[in-house]
This record gives sequence, structure tokens and C-alpha cells, in this order.
Amino acid sequence: MTVWAVLAAAGSGERLGKGRPKAFARLGDEVLLAESLKRLDQSDWVDAIVIVAPPGWEEPAILVAEELACTKVSASVPGGATRGESVAAGLREVPEDALLVLVHDAARPLLPGEVIERVVTGVGDGWDGAVPVLPIVDTVKRVRGEEIAETLERQDLVAAQTPQGFVAPVLREAFGGDVAGVSDCAAVVEAHGGRVRAVAGDLRLLKVTTPEDLELVASWL
Ligand code: CTP
Ligand code: MG
Repeated sequence: MTVWAVLAAAGSGERLGKGRPKAFARLGDEVLLAESLKRLDQSDWVDAIVIVAPPGWEEPAILVAEELACTKVSASVPGGATRGESVAAGLREVPEDALLVLVHDAARPLLPGEVIERVVTGVGDGWDGAVPVLPIVDTVKRVRGEEIAETLERQDLVAAQTPQGFVAPVLREAFGGDVAGVSDCAAVVEAHGGRVRAVAGDLRLLKVTTPEDLELVASWL
């Protein structure tokens, strides 16, 4: 098996405020976790999946996988206090012989198969990783309190999404240090001198943060 997916689903979903972890919030007829999980499982580009669940929710996560008749889930492990620590926990389940690791946020449920393909095929040929990105339409400014301190050149700026794909040993090496504060995997790889490629993202990969986001994504099902 060569392409492993680490599905980061261990967040508490504080801002969604459903009184349960975001991954287990209802989305359509299933839980939010189910959407990205089944899309990864159905992709011909993915060989195996590690679910990183909120501590205590490893079993329910496996039950979701069983209900969906997923065939590629290899493990469900408890996450850490931060996203970085959760990804590190998932990475520990990925075997040495893996070629590529995809890291995806369960908070982005609508994962188009084309994006998985673009990310997986985007790695290699001298690229250590690939990240789906979207152009930023608004002008971006840096503020200091109320005061606008700087206006950034928009044409150089993009918004990064997941799944992010990496050459497995490169990601493992980059995650060797303290990753507690890391919210973007590519940032760690970049900091380690890795070359990360930008590939086309997708608007449907909206990250669910608030109840309004959840409603919007539900309307796209
Ligand atoms: N995540 C994780 N482990 C953590 C924190 C976050 O695996 N300790 C995952 C979430 O499950 C989510 C992704 O990282 O898929 C992005 O995090 P975010 O959108 O911030 O989700 P939550 O942390 O759950 O939400 P909130 O910050 O509102 O509590
Ligand atoms: Mg969070």
C-alpha cells in the first residue's frame, strides 16, 4: 500500500457549538465525518486511511466506517490537544513503506475526487508536497488594532485547503520536532526546506466552522 490518508477529525467543534465533536455533528443523513471518509475510501488514489478521532470517540468513528462499508480504514486513533498533535498521532500509524501521505480535515466534508487526484499526482517530479489552493478575491490587509498597517499584493496570495499530500518520509521528518502549534502541514514541510506545489482547490471544500457553514454545506449535498 502506497498512498495513506490521515483524516484529522479530533477537534472539539467549539465554534460549531453542537455539544459534541464537530466530526459527529449531523450533516444530511449522516455525521460530518462520514462525507470525507467515504470520499477518501471510494477514491482509487487512496490505499489506506487512518482516522484521528476525538479521544474517546475512536470506536464511534470505526462504527461510522463500518456503516459506510469502508474497506480502507486501517486504524482509528485518539487525537491530541491541537491539530498538529492529532496529525502526528495519525502519522505514527502510517507504515514505513508508505510513499505518500494525504492529510485531510474532516471539517471539509465535501471532498471532490478530482482534488484528491490533483493532489496525489501533483507530488513527485521534484515536489515534496502539493496543496489545493483558491485565489483570494478580496483585497487583503494587515491591521494593527483598528489601523490598517499594510495592503498586501493580492495576486501572490491564495487560500490553502486540504487534502494536502506529501512524500511520506519528508512529512515524517518535518513532523519530527514540536508540532503542537502547527495548523498547516505544508507550513512545516516548507520550514524544513521542502518544495510544495500549489494545485487547484475547490470551492466545495468549504471548511465548516460555524452553524451557518454547516447549513451551507448541507445545502450542497
Ligand atoms: N483537529 C484535530 N485535532 C485537534 C484540533 C483540530 O484533529 N486537536 C482537526 C479538526 O477535527 C478539523 C481540523 O483539524 O477537522 C480543523 O480544525 P477546526 O476547524 O479548528 O476544528 P475544531 O478544532 O474541531 O473546531 P473549533 O476550533 O471551533 O473547536
Ligand atoms: Mg480548532
